Amino acid sequence: MNEDVGIDPWSSDGETDYSRIVNQFGLELVDQSTIPNPGMLHRRGVVFAHRDLDVAIRSIRDKSPLGVLTGLMPSGRMHLGHSMVIEQVKWFQGHGADVTVAVADLEALATRGTSIAQGRKTALEEYVLNYAALGLDPSETEVYFQSSRPEVQRLGFTLGRRTNLSEFESIYGFTGETNLAHVQAPLVQVGDIVHPQLDDFGGLRPIVVPVGIDQDPHLRLTRDIVGKTNWFNIKEKKSGGLTVSLSMQPDNSAIFGVDSNGRLDRSSRDVIFSKIIDLISPLGFADFSSNPKHGTIDIPGATRSDKNLIRMQLLRFERNLGGLGLMPPCSTYHRFAPGMTGGKMSSSKPETTIFMTDSVEAMSKKVNRAISGGKSTVEEHRRLGGDCSKDISFQYLKFFFEQEDSAIAEIRRDYESGRMLAGEIKKLCIDKASTWLEEISEKREYWRDRTHEFISHDSV
Ligand code: TRP
Repeated sequence: MNEDVGIDPWSSDGETDYSRIVNQFGLELVDQSTIPNPGMLHRRGVVFAHRDLDVAIRSIRDKSPLGVLTGLMPSGRMHLGHSMVIEQVKWFQGHGADVTVAVADLEALATRGTSIAQGRKTALEEYVLNYAALGLDPSETEVYFQSSRPEVQRLGFTLGRRTNLSEFESIYGFTGETNLAHVQAPLVQVGDIVHPQLDDFGGLRPIVVPVGIDQDPHLRLTRDIVGKTNWFNIKEKKSGGLTVSLSMQPDNSAIFGVDSNGRLDRSSRDVIFSKIIDLISPLGFADFSSNPKHGTIDIPGATRSDKNLIRMQLLRFERNLGGLGLMPPCSTYHRFAPGMTGGKMSSSKPETTIFMTDSVEAMSKKVNRAISGGKSTVEEHRRLGGDCSKDISFQYLKFFFEQEDSAIAEIRRDYESGRMLAGEIKKLCIDKASTWLEEISEKREYWRDRTHEFISHDSV
């Protein structure tokens, strides 16, 4: 079984094999016990995997700066599936993070043919309005457009030097026929993800990107590229301790003491080394063994948990020396809620999901027609009970509409024991969903003339 499970961020069909993706791409599983005041999606195992979430959590615990970045594709209508990311963004915002939202108008143009003007209209009327209604705080949220933020594009272009077509072929399955706008889209997304770390957009701090697992290829690409730009690497040694090593690059070779003939200039190398030691010593280390010739410094007394502080010092130093000084983004991944008719949710198949602007009637019709985990006769259902794992009403209560864990547990008990019938759980789901939709709709009206509060100044 060495067949690769690819992930195509632009396709929405096919089932998702979560455990294989986790293994193949080296995601880590979320350990709920490490999350302060876990949100509903954490508690229910919906947010199940991550990269470097511990770094973001540490910022929350230390009350040090943390940014959240997410992006939206301004095409089609916003549905329940899209709201899951916003739930997570809200959770981070509630724990002190600043929020940046990218409107992927360039990506929508490249991959869907959506004009910039249409993308803007859809973004504002459909997405930003619903984000507001879902409860994002405008004073800590900034929505921008890819097409109007030159820094994002410049960063995408600059970082494009650190990758090549072969990598794009293997990550995205691009071929000779792929149009070049589509090839550029992932680099713009790298720009989206990285740019909040620029001094003009909040500066050096961890950035967490909550996404569905389909977006992981972009995060892998970003992390890979960021790693290649770093001037200093920190590795854990097998024998214990950490090693800092210089990563020689054209931009830093003079600074790191390598002349144009590739010869080592010991005095400038020594200057850099003593500066590094000066920066790290105050963190509580006295023992260093440096090898200037190889460009390495061992810190035998440092442990894994010191890595982050040392890294922050070195990234700041890199910036002072003229480097980008970037951190790899952290990310979290949620499971997809099932589509209502089996298979996946899709904007282009309205029967598979509930749109934010669906009427109660439209929603009720969809729930009534959705896949049920009930047995075919009442008699059999009473005897054997329903199957919550298949039942859309149960699943939607769990993913979206029922906030109380105890209520979910009770519904599960009643349904699985056969006490609650398929029609009854549908009714329960419809009731809860009606309240949910009505509330969102009211809030939309409140925000309709105020979405500008979320929009950044450069969104001309
Ligand atoms: N590619 C994302 C989508 O298809 C949209 C997006 C653009 C995005 N930039 C982003 C998502 C940055 C997360 C982070 O929906």
